[in-house]
Amino acid sequence: MSTLQAVRYSRGKLEVLDQLRLPHEFHYDDVSTRQEAFDSITTMRVRGAPAIAIVASLGLAVELFNGPVAGNTAQEVIHHIDEALDYLKQSRPTAVDLTNAINQLKTHIRSVGDEKEAIVEAFIAEAEKIFERDLETNLAIGDHGAEWLKAQVGATSENTVSVVTHCNTGSLATSGHGTALGIIRTLQANGQLRQAFCTETRPYNQGSRLTAFELVHEGIPSTLIADSMAASLFRTKKEEKNITAVIVGADRVVRNGDTANKIGTYQLAVLAKHHGIKFMVAAPTTSIDLETETGDGIKIEERRQEEMTQVTGAAIKADGSVDESFKVRVATADQRIDVWNPAFDVTPAELIDAVVTEKGAVEKCADGKFDFGNIMPERW
Ligand code: MRU
Repeated sequence: MSTLQAVRYSRGKLEVLDQLRLPHEFHYDDVSTRQEAFDSITTMRVRGAPAIAIVASLGLAVELFNGPVAGNTAQEVIHHIDEALDYLKQSRPTAVDLTNAINQLKTHIRSVGDEKEAIVEAFIAEAEKIFERDLETNLAIGDHGAEWLKAQVGATSENTVSVVTHCNTGSLATSGHGTALGIIRTLQANGQLRQAFCTETRPYNQGSRLTAFELVHEGIPSTLIADSMAASLFRTKKEEKNITAVIVGADRVVRNGDTANKIGTYQLAVLAKHHGIKFMVAAPTTSIDLETETGDGIKIEERRQEEMTQVTGAAIKADGSVDESFKVRVATADQRIDVWNPAFDVTPAELIDAVVTEKGAVEKCADGKFDFGNIMPERW
């Protein structure tokens, strides 16, 4: 069984899986310019905080590799790259991984001397490093998350646990393995997992279109629920299924631990608290933003109303099978209704039991606040 890959890269060539066509069709787009990278991100053909940063970085790397690069002097080349990065930064505002990657790239190209070619080479190599490191990071998050659940709720192969996840945080949202879904993968590999429940994740259905697909693809025992079913799931199946944790990803974890993630995350945290279920955020340190003090400082992206009032799917044939070659877009609401469509919400730190990073699980201190000082890498 092959692992799903959101991004395929070799120097000078980037291919990005079009996630709008999943789960019915596997199609990779060539992304060879900053504009193509920008479009893939804004149209959500690629999404997920780490994957956005990877596609923006590698998209520009491919453009630079295939040249020509504007500018006669090192300063002009740096200016040209800065402009491209500032443009890419506008693609989606909430996930901080992109901003962190951009800062890292800008700092790196200023540290390699004043040869034009060296600057371009340094950019490409650093973008490749961002891509490669993400996989190692996710594998480490998987191990730390599984360890934490063993310590906190006794998740072992003799006492398997069920968990709930939201949105898509798997291979499709990263360079591989995933963050929250990566922990689920690791639990499964360790024999600690009984069952994963994934929410549909309205309005964009990353749960039903992408996570359900990944879970089935990986042969992980899993059940899809609508977002509105979580409370009943906890109330009626917590004991029977040994539901011990909600595990979600993050688009931005700020200094006090408040966490922006896919809309619907906050309500799951409230429900988890009410039902005595652990609430775990799985986030690489590239999703941590120490410059923003609290969740009030996070810009929440609002998206088009059609994402709420229309869906695309494959047609169902008379015999009940799916006709993957025949896509239909259907209206699911009166098209004249006013719509509010925030893509993310902020879960207050007080509802979060642990933020699991590649450096380990961080819990709140005695004062009830998170302190990420010990695990944050030296900054660029
Ligand atoms: O709008 P999306 O699909 O980009 O939102 C994705 C999420 O909210 C994920 O949980 C988050 O980016 C973490 S992905 C490892």
